[in-house]
Amino acid sequence: MKTYTYPQSQTLFKRAAAVIPCGIPGHMSPAANVPVSDYPFFAAHADGAKFWDVDGNEFIDYMCAYGPMILGYNNPVVNKAALNQLEQSDCVMGASPRMVELAEFLVDLVPAADWAFFAKNGGDVTNYSVMIARAATGRKKITMIAGGYHGVAPWMQAPGHAGLIEEDYRNIIRLKWNDFAGFERAVAEHPGQIAGFIATPYHVPAFYDSELPEKGYWQKVEALCRKEGIVLIIDDIRHGFRLDMGGSNEYFGFKPDLICFCKALANGFTISALVGSDALKNDAARVFYTGSYWYQAMPMAAALACLSELKRIDGPKLMLDAGERLLNGLTESARSHGYDLKVSGLPSLPYLRITNDESLMLHQDWCGECTKRGAFFTSHHNWFLSTAHTDDDIAKTIEIADDAFAAIKAKYGDRYSTR
Ligand SMILES: Cc1ncc(COP(=O)(O)O)c(C=O)c1O
Repeated sequence: MKTYTYPQSQTLFKRAAAVIPCGIPGHMSPAANVPVSDYPFFAAHADGAKFWDVDGNEFIDYMCAYGPMILGYNNPVVNKAALNQLEQSDCVMGASPRMVELAEFLVDLVPAADWAFFAKNGGDVTNYSVMIARAATGRKKITMIAGGYHGVAPWMQAPGHAGLIEEDYRNIIRLKWNDFAGFERAVAEHPGQIAGFIATPYHVPAFYDSELPEKGYWQKVEALCRKEGIVLIIDDIRHGFRLDMGGSNEYFGFKPDLICFCKALANGFTISALVGSDALKNDAARVFYTGSYWYQAMPMAAALACLSELKRIDGPKLMLDAGERLLNGLTESARSHGYDLKVSGLPSLPYLRITNDESLMLHQDWCGECTKRGAFFTSHHNWFLSTAHTDDDIAKTIEIADDAFAAIKAKYGDRYSTR
């Protein structure tokens, strides 16, 4: 099978590095994808479940722009709604009726929502959720999960990162995922001081296996929050609309006070949302929170089209089923080459890891070998399925994976393989 090279990507990256800190900063940075020589750096165009890089290489995309792409790139229904809106109004002096329609839509769709508020990035709404929890309770402390990610505001970042000061996380209590007893202890040690508990619906730490909630975990957390007056916040930015259209808490059977959505909300158009319960509506109104582009009408029209389409086709089921077919094929291919490919999380946003080498080097190599054959896999982060991944895409991906397993076997011989 032919493997790709990336001369144009590399030339462009040199130009980027001269004028942009890090060249490509953040999660799209080449440093995120190792071995660096196996990955493209710049995308040229995209359609359905595929994108093409600046060298003309074609990839079936299992990162979906880190989650926003859910109905396929260039989705005609969403794009048409967005472009129609753009012709009427986008960022103008006055909010658009789309804002009201989208809030009504979310209140209908999401059982825990009595109201909705819109911003741009995920971090805008996780930050807002914590401010509301503090305004509502008059308390300072926030409990979150060690290894959880909620964005880049100082309180969300792990201690030790550049630019943070100790005061930024003085009121943050980090708990272990699935450790309800640890949450009980934190409540006992800080009586009447905890404003909010924030976590993703299940744990998705980078470089580690994903972890589902243990039976009863969420129900116990919810009950303790109610008893102690702690605001329960679900960060559904990554999982949202890939497990359940009503919010991922519905999948796990509990009711939070606030839910943060972003990423898949508008198939890549720029919008995030916080939804919440009636009890917190006045507190949400009291918190000063706004941004230059937060009333943009085009992403709101895109979100209305995206959510309607996902609901119409039962998007979460399609992605869970397609993910299952993909993962069965990949694990079977691994086994036939003597490797154990461990899958964790749920099939619409799975995390994979070859367990034969604990250092993850072998797994990184295999992901790189797949990518330079046209199946874009990262090794450190969960992947994402979309409703645009077809059976043909999945069959081709399994063929690519098979060839990549043969390539790492040729490279390492019997060192890791059990066959
Ligand atoms: C679970 C979770 N929360 C919050 C964020 C932050 O979103 P944004 O980067 O749009 O601010 C992310 C982004 O990856 C995320 O995965």
